[in-house]
Amino acid sequence: MNWLKRILRGVFDHLDGWLDAACGPRFNPLVQLGALGWLMFWLIAISGIYVYVFFDTGVEDAYRSVEALTHGQWWAGGIMRSLHRYASDALVVVTILHMLREFAHDRLRGVRWFAWITGLLLIGFIYICGITGYWMVWDQLAQYVAMASSRWLDALPIFSEPISRNFVNNAGLSGRFFTLMAYVHIFAPLAMLAFMWVHIQRYNQAKINPVRGLGIAVTIALVGLALVHPAESQGPANLDALAASVGLDWFYLPLYPLLDVLGAGWLWGLALGIFVALAILPWAPPLKRPPAAVVSLDNCNGCSRCFDDCPYGAITMQPRSDGLPFSQEAVVDPDLCVSCGICAGACPTATPFRRATALVPGIQLPQHDIAGLRDKVQAACSQLQGDPAVVVFRCEHGAAVSPPADGAAAVIDVPCTGMLPPSFIDLVVTKNMAAGVMLAGCHEGSCHERLGVEWTEKRVAGLRDPYLRDRVPRQRVAVSWASPVQWRARRDAMEAFMASLKGGTETLPAQAGQAGKPAWRLPARGLPGAVRPVLQVVLLAAAMWPLGFLSATPEVQLRAANEAVVTLTFSHAGQHQHECKKLSPEELAKLPPNMRRTTGCPRERWPVSIELDLDGKTVFTATRQPAGLWDDGPSSLFERFKVPAGPQQMVVRLRDSGRETGFDYSAEASIDLRPGQNFVIDFRHPDGFILK
Ligand code: HEM
Ligand code: SF4
Ligand code: SF4
Repeated sequence: MNWLKRILRGVFDHLDGWLDAACGPRFNPLVQLGALGWLMFWLIAISGIYVYVFFDTGVEDAYRSVEALTHGQWWAGGIMRSLHRYASDALVVVTILHMLREFAHDRLRGVRWFAWITGLLLIGFIYICGITGYWMVWDQLAQYVAMASSRWLDALPIFSEPISRNFVNNAGLSGRFFTLMAYVHIFAPLAMLAFMWVHIQRYNQAKINPVRGLGIAVTIALVGLALVHPAESQGPANLDALAASVGLDWFYLPLYPLLDVLGAGWLWGLALGIFVALAILPWAPPLKRPPAAVVSLDNCNGCSRCFDDCPYGAITMQPRSDGLPFSQEAVVDPDLCVSCGICAGACPTATPFRRATALVPGIQLPQHDIAGLRDKVQAACSQLQGDPAVVVFRCEHGAAVSPPADGAAAVIDVPCTGMLPPSFIDLVVTKNMAAGVMLAGCHEGSCHERLGVEWTEKRVAGLRDPYLRDRVPRQRVAVSWASPVQWRARRDAMEAFMASLKGGTETLPAQAGQAGKPAWRLPARGLPGAVRPVLQVVLLAAAMWPLGFLSATPEVQLRAANEAVVTLTFSHAGQHQHECKKLSPEELAKLPPNMRRTTGCPRERWPVSIELDLDGKTVFTATRQPAGLWDDGPSSLFERFKVPAGPQQMVVRLRDSGRETGFDYSAEASIDLRPGQNFVIDFRHPDGFILK
């Protein structure tokens, strides 16, 4: 599994690098896929409400109302309908990418299993919403979806009568399915919204809005796609015929064509297999969890900074339990803690300047204790040679740091740069233990611990407690955010920082969009300013193209040009296996008083067998068992065959009496099948076969 993660991680890291160059790290869509999922949800909800206002449920009304909306008011309803479809397709794309990205970054094991499993359930909701949406329009695609979904569901042994029997032909179609679909299509998104909320429950400040510029650009691009390539219906549904082909939405219906290849049972197996394989990933293999953060009440003053900064909501502030004169204390829930150490970086008592008592802060990771960190820093600084010399605090998830061979840099690994209390930078710089400090973490938009990069930037810039004190010259503090594949950028940043320290630079390079007193950083090497907007438009258009194309093409062939269809179906209770008989007084006495009736009628029924001949050849035989726990329900069958169009001699026979030979009913017809015609053979007791 690790090799797959590594390959995917490399792919995402490279894509991040390219998109950073094209759009800038803040606007890179790949680092905000979850937030883009939320945006898609809102776009779908708004456009869906608009479409629903003009939508009529019902066999004929559904298609007619959607056509009127698409063509009668293309400038509003048409755009809304297309936006509804394309945002739904985009939701599938961003969700799958989001899932792959979390997998690639190994953000699914340990405590994170919760987000992974709730995410998987969200995929289920997305598909229920999408499939019922296509069903409601009642065009030819809807007919295909209805038939194929029913056939798929009928393979489950839970329905007493096949759902497919609701779609035998136009005459038998009732509006109740449309009402059901409309309910499901409205309530499934509401349930999905509740699940989306559950999905991010364990996250402090979950990012549910993409950066504004990106959100606007994606919305405009989707509206543009809606204008250039409006979503259309595919001709009205007609159950009396089978279309030769249908255009599929390959985002929602990619498994449907496999029904004909694998059959419904195997397709369930495949879908279930995929789900189970994904569901066990958080435990494949289980994460050996490092110890959780621990609170030292003697040193905790209840300031709640750790509570504010913990990205995973693992800390709660509770009433003081030890009698010290503070109102609250921090409490860590070890089941939610990922051991990132960010809380220690936030704690004001985690300061290396403390001399009077042993350095035990209010909160810290036992395996990366703050006293040990101070010792490491002192030891590393005492070994530094050369001028200028720097100390690099490197997060273990980011790019490697190769210190120069001359001993002018010392590298200290931390679980996340957010674990470093700013007072450590203060110590190194103001005590001149090194000329500079570099904080080297993950890719800017993709901090492994979610908020480590952001909190570090803000603490250094003096925008978030605990601040890096003003007395620390910021040109002696550098940040470098780079993913493992961006090691060159890391090396260049380090060389440039050391060069700037050597030159005694007093002014920092201007940093666009940075507030406060930011640290030094190597200006990002992007594309020339004039090229960027053009490239961004090209990238957005390129992202829209597959949405437009795969939402209705390529088509799937449903039958050959000269083929017709025969539907063979019944839902019929076989005859009782035993006659009713009069009970003797002794038999009556054995029964409980409330069940004493003078006649006893055993409930079991005979199975129903059927046989179909076309042009003198038996093409189908089947026996169906009675439904029900006591074999007392109806036996049911729904089968469809493609047959050559043209004249056919048809004979059909049915046995429901358990007789050893012969049949109880039969019918014969000479028919001339038109290409695409759906010829139905149904059975009704006591009339017998209905052929039409
Ligand atoms: C409607 C679909 C989804 C939406 C809108 C969504 C949204 C989000 C958001 C907003 C976050 C928090 C990001 C942050 O602030 O750090 C998140 C985290 C996460 N999501 Fe999803 N998600 C969806 C589906 C999925 C799916 C299908 C999976 C995987 C099966 C998944 C797995 C995760 C994981 C593992 C995290 C946690 C990452 C971490 O621990 O840092 N999500 N999601
Ligand atoms: S180590 Fe990280 S997850 Fe655990 S309590 Fe501290 S900040 Fe929260
Ligand atoms: S940051 Fe430190 S002092 Fe403040 S509540 Fe948390 S553990 Fe206590």
